[in-house]
Parts: sequence; C-alpha cells; structure tokens
Amino acid sequence: MRKTVAICSVVLLLSVFRTFGADADYKLVRIETLTTAVRVRLPLTDVTGKVRVKEKSPAGFGLPVAPSKTVLGAKHYLEWQIGYDVPGTNSPTVVPEIKFTRNGETKYGHELSKIIFEAVRLRLLSTNEILRAMEALKKIPANEFEENQMVQVEVATNAAADGFQSAVQRLPQFTKTTPHGSVQIQLKQKQRAVGYQAMVYVCIPMPEVLTMTGSPRPPGRAHSKETVFYDFNRDNAAFLLDIIHAFGMASAQHNEDIQKILGKILEAATKS
Ligand code: ADE
Repeated sequence: MRKTVAICSVVLLLSVFRTFGADADYKLVRIETLTTAVRVRLPLTDVTGKVRVKEKSPAGFGLPVAPSKTVLGAKHYLEWQIGYDVPGTNSPTVVPEIKFTRNGETKYGHELSKIIFEAVRLRLLSTNEILRAMEALKKIPANEFEENQMVQVEVATNAAADGFQSAVQRLPQFTKTTPHGSVQIQLKQKQRAVGYQAMVYVCIPMPEVLTMTGSPRPPGRAHSKETVFYDFNRDNAAFLLDIIHAFGMASAQHNEDIQKILGKILEAATKS
C-alpha cells in the first residue's frame, strides 16, 4: 500500500513538473540553423520577459501593449533585449566554442553570439565582414560610448500643485533603422547599483515576423503562449552587423566583450 502511494506521488510530481516545464518552454528563445537562414523563435506573450510587444511612436519610444488583447499588425514591433553571453553551458542557445573571460569570470556565447556564429558557418556573413566589424569597434573613442552620455534632469522653476516639485529626466536613446528592423541603445537606471547602463534592443516589425512554417504571421491577437519566428538570411545579414556595432557603441565593457566573441568566431571559422 505504502509503495503504491509512493509510486503514485512520484508519478504525480513528475507529471506536475512536466506540465510546468513544458509550460515555460515557450518563453525560451530558440535558435535553429536552416540551410540558408538562422531562424530565431521568440515568445509573443511573455510580457515581463526579454521580448515585449510595443506600439510604434513617432519618436521611437514604443508603448507596451497587451499582445493577447491587441490586433498585432503594421503598427507593432517586438522589442528583444538580446543577450550575448551566459555563465554556464546549459542554455539552449549556448555556443561552447565561444568561451571568454570578463573580469576573471568565464562566460560562454549565446543568443547573438550563436546567431553570428551560425551566420558565419552558413556564409551569410564573411570572415572579412567580421574582421571589419572588429576593426570598427576598436576605433570607437572611449568618450563616445553611449553609457557616458549625460542624463539631464530638468527641475521646473515653479513648484507644482500642492507643494510637489516637478522634474523631468531626459534619457538618451539611439536608434539605427534598417529595412528589416532597428536596433536601439537605451540608457536605463542600473537596477542594483548607482548610475546608468546602456541596454541594447533588437526591434523587429510585426510584418517581418513569421509563423512556424516560415510564412508571414497574419495580423491578429496573440494566442496563449504563442511563439513567433524571425529569419536572419542573405537579405538581412547586414542587420547583424548593425547589432554588433550597437553593442560596440553601448559601453566599453560591451565593446570589449563583443570583440572577444568575434575573435572566437573567427578562430572557429578559420579552423573548420
Ligand atoms: N548584456 C547582454 N545583453 C545585453 C543587452 N541586450 N543590453 C545590455 N547589456 C547586455
């Protein structure tokens, strides 16, 4: 009897674990290499995660929308806080060949690193283009890193209503727009420290977003746990060079990391 209860408990626990495990899988960014493209899978409804749906605004400051309550179409885009490194090798998008150190800590390439690694393998990007991108990163002057840009605070001279003083903070944002999407550097207040940090976002217009079959996603509300796809191919491979450059401009640390990553990608490409 006891044995049966124990077995039943284990089976129940396993099924709960499987349900929740499978449940959260849609939130993971996945990268798949096809014959002529690197296909990225992104979650459409993980509103608190690294991929958010926003509505375009003329100045480029997008407004977040509720994806399941909004007909997602030409006005909307995905804002992806793309990553490029992880501390261990258990991420689904890790590249073990890209191993480097930052301030004495070992890091492995993932997401952007994997996309570039695969794009070079598929010859969507040449080793020469990677070399030129590295040279360009080396030439960015230290005082031009966006992280060092001034954040201005304007305090209104007249006190606002009921004794409240009004003040406005101006946070710089830099956007490079390409026909396939844009890349943004946004200055944000550091979460666990004093000062500002430069965050890099890849912005993908909804009309460029694909379904699982590789056809454009028709306009419509997001369904629960929907995932969508974006292909890096011969036509938009230069977008990757813009993303690389944005990281190179963001801060001295990002510039150094990306140079190390590109160095490893070149090493691997010339070995094979
Ligand atoms: N480090 C890794 N990915 C980043 C991103 N998207 N923006 C800023 N820092 C990062």
